[in-house]
Amino acid sequence: MTFHTIIEPFRIKSVEHIRLSTEAERRDFLLRAHYNPFLLHSDQVIVDLLTDSGTSAMSSEQWAGIMRGDESYAGAASWQRMEAAVRDLTGYPYIMPTHQGRAAEHLLYTRIGGKGKVFISNTHFDTTRANIEFSGATAVDCPIPEGRHPELIHPFKGNLDTRKLEENIEKYGAENVAAVILTVTNNSGGGQPVSMANARAVSEICKKHGIRFILDACRIAENAWFVKDREPGFEEKTYREIAQEMFSLADGCIFSAKKDALVNIGGFLALRDLELALQCRSVLIITEGYSTYGGLSGRDMEAIAIGLEEVFDADYLNYRIKSTAYLANKLSDMGIPIVLPPGGHAVYVDAKAFYPHIPPEEYPGQAFVCDLYVKGGIRCCEIGSVMFGKYDESGKLIPAAMELVRLAIPRRVYTQSHIDYVVETFGGLLHQRFDATGFRITSEPPFLRHFTARFEPVPVFETC
Ligand code: F0G
Repeated sequence: MTFHTIIEPFRIKSVEHIRLSTEAERRDFLLRAHYNPFLLHSDQVIVDLLTDSGTSAMSSEQWAGIMRGDESYAGAASWQRMEAAVRDLTGYPYIMPTHQGRAAEHLLYTRIGGKGKVFISNTHFDTTRANIEFSGATAVDCPIPEGRHPELIHPFKGNLDTRKLEENIEKYGAENVAAVILTVTNNSGGGQPVSMANARAVSEICKKHGIRFILDACRIAENAWFVKDREPGFEEKTYREIAQEMFSLADGCIFSAKKDALVNIGGFLALRDLELALQCRSVLIITEGYSTYGGLSGRDMEAIAIGLEEVFDADYLNYRIKSTAYLANKLSDMGIPIVLPPGGHAVYVDAKAFYPHIPPEEYPGQAFVCDLYVKGGIRCCEIGSVMFGKYDESGKLIPAAMELVRLAIPRRVYTQSHIDYVVETFGGLLHQRFDATGFRITSEPPFLRHFTARFEPVPVFETC
């Protein structure tokens, strides 16, 4: 018999209470959070789809590992276990533990970046771009054209456009390209996978020009699911073998363990180049901690070592990707415009198509995020002109390429009925979509403004 129910391949041993608020309460909470869901308190949220980062439920094996954590300052057994797990998976010899992904980005990109340097990626994630730009370097996004069209179907919409890559290398000069970064899956580009063929082509171009090739690999297990499912020649390989093959093509990786290592905190930088690793390690010791713990405790490293094994379990990965597709398909069937086909860790709503009457200058994605919260207490994240918009010299907004809203699904946390509740909430929004109004920013910081910016609704009479 073929089953259609996506059964969660785990049982729940410990539960966390969710406070069920009313719509009136949520209006007040949102007003007090200046219409920025990042500023809400977690107990004001019913289903939290803000991020899949650091929000995983750990397994009983990981909790057992936490009890075994060795907290020695230097050479802890937990570090040996984490280092062995990372080396076995990535094949890279030099590994530096960090407190999370962006600390690894900071270590590497400030070393190899700086004024006059360029980084080229399928799409830089926001902290990646911020670290690069903070160093004075330039970040150039080169997704394939299909990647910029939410409605277009393509099996590997996260691919990097290799023709544009060559053009940019020509334009900036290979000696000025600090690195090519392939983000798998491509988070800011809709959580879309990257094919092995594309990773191989990027690797060859980098080798030809003597350019460093770095994987942003925090969702590489999820990416491996798509490669096995969609790319000919990988049917018989395990997910782990597929990930290992992808790592083998690059010179190193940045890894936020808060995603596919199934832990709440952690990350690492892994490199092939000893010289560069030594430079990064010096800064690691100054800014994060000694080289055998970085910014982590022994118990965190123990949980990472176990998580990196568990994430490649075939039943887990199958449930993970299929349950994301379950939400995506239900929304799509209702007529909600989403990025198709669904990616691995999240469903992306095309807010520009959902609210065609709200111009990018009034942030349709932010309007959507606020409306979904008020309607059902669901928290999610704008990935559009709030996150990526820039200003020209006259202060006019240059909008982002897409106005997306991300519903990121924490790993092993919500059951199918939580997801059905999300679907029902969307049903409520659909009926009143043309009543929605836009927002304007009342205050913002210079970097990563989406975290702390404050907003106010644009009065209806101004938009007419
Ligand atoms: N790279 C990618 C592709 C990411 O998605 C993230 C984090 C990072 C790097 C930075 O890692 O958070 O451990 O410092 N993404 C989270 C998200 C924040 O919600 O997508 P970090």
